[in-house]
Amino acid sequence: MERLDELLARHHAVVEEAVARHGLPLHVFFVEEMERTAAEFRDVADRLYPNTSVLFAVKSNPCRGALRAAARLGLGTDTASEHELRAALEEGVPPGKIVCNGNAKSTRYLEAIVQSGALCAVDNEDELDELSRTAQKRGARVPVLVRFRGMPLSGFTTDDQATASDWTKFGFPIDRADEVLARVADAPGVKFDGVSAHIGTQIAAPLAYERLVAHFLGLARRATARGLRVSRMDFGGGYPVSFVSEADWKGFMRLLLARMRDPGAAASVTWNDLPMGYFGADPDDPDPAWTGKAYWSERPGAQMLDHLLTFRHPDGKTTAEHLSDLGSPALIVEPGRSLMAPAGVTLAEVRGSKEVLGHRVVSIDLGITNHGTNLISPDIFPAAVLPRRASDRPVDAFLAGRLCFTGDMLSKVKVRLNRAPRPGERVVIYQTGAYSADHFASNSCGFPRPGKVAVARDGHVEIWRRPETFEDVFGPLDAQ
Ligand SMILES: Cc1ncc(COP(=O)(O)O)c(C=O)c1O
Repeated sequence: MERLDELLARHHAVVEEAVARHGLPLHVFFVEEMERTAAEFRDVADRLYPNTSVLFAVKSNPCRGALRAAARLGLGTDTASEHELRAALEEGVPPGKIVCNGNAKSTRYLEAIVQSGALCAVDNEDELDELSRTAQKRGARVPVLVRFRGMPLSGFTTDDQATASDWTKFGFPIDRADEVLARVADAPGVKFDGVSAHIGTQIAAPLAYERLVAHFLGLARRATARGLRVSRMDFGGGYPVSFVSEADWKGFMRLLLARMRDPGAAASVTWNDLPMGYFGADPDDPDPAWTGKAYWSERPGAQMLDHLLTFRHPDGKTTAEHLSDLGSPALIVEPGRSLMAPAGVTLAEVRGSKEVLGHRVVSIDLGITNHGTNLISPDIFPAAVLPRRASDRPVDAFLAGRLCFTGDMLSKVKVRLNRAPRPGERVVIYQTGAYSADHFASNSCGFPRPGKVAVARDGHVEIWRRPETFEDVFGPLDAQ
């Protein structure tokens, strides 16, 4: 968090001005952090496999400002809708650097894909048929990637966010790859360019990427055997963020396990005593496996791309060597979270504290709808009470949101705060630059969505999303 603390200190005056102008809560993004994370991906690619395109997954921070920054950094985009595609094109992302994903693409989206010349990650047969008809009508030949599922890739994140294993709505089943590839090859108006998949988000275990790559090399060989040229391989996103330090992560796992083994002797560390990644594990097992989402990774961000390219396959070759044997297809990576999360903080106000079953619960003026960074299970993250003081004494607390249901717990694991906050004090939640401001943002309980501002290296502040007003949510008094 040191880097974000340093940025908050360096840009203190403009951040305070933004708070005075737009109110709390407020999402604050530091563009130079995005420049740093993007440079890390580019550096790994240039060193290990230069024929790599780094694409910003727009869904992680969908707004013009982020797209402008991405275009300036030479990034392409992974888009999830006709709207993200339009904004990417309008902000100057070249169509050849855009991959269009989605399992229920609208007719408008497909037409925009054909018209723009962007790459389409084809999800299913109906979509392939419509894309083929649309392309023929326009006399175009659309480059496509074929998206696959059905790989042994469950258990690496939450089930809701696993997108290349068996139970997922995305893509074609890999065990029917020959038939699917033949259909794509025969579809008029469509040009087979390669294969794609996205494991899911916050994939902390290197093994997941190893499995994905192994399956993709097999797919590429099968496609080549059919006479198809695999000119691109898209490994999707999922690159993890270490939201907490290794020591804090492992310490938390130890405490959780101690509580599961002997609830009488050890205090609970999770809300409702949730077993989280130890769900279904035998607590007497000396070293039970953690399943699902993890909040620390030995290979965060671009380091996971490094691993993906350098790990040794059973035949002793690295992925980069295998790709070279396949004629050096372009590699596509689509980071969202790891590119954006480290660049953002969310500022909010403490409204009060109480004790629940002996645990400190601090309520703040956000909802889980304004903290989608962890998506669906807003679990573990660092936060602090500002300003920090020499007299601070750390406390552990669950952070609660302001929405009208019990599930609105911003943290389901106790957060260590630098001090017990008083009502009206400011809290900062770190690493919220991906998903937090947008993914589940809604007007639940009538709250307007908070603003989102970006601070450039020179201290210039851009509004990435104006805070909504009462009228935005409820309309004017005389509306019919
Ligand atoms: C196809 C695709 N690519 C990339 C991403 C970005 O994932 P992450 O933010 O975990 O890097 C997503 C996220 O859902 C996705 O669906």
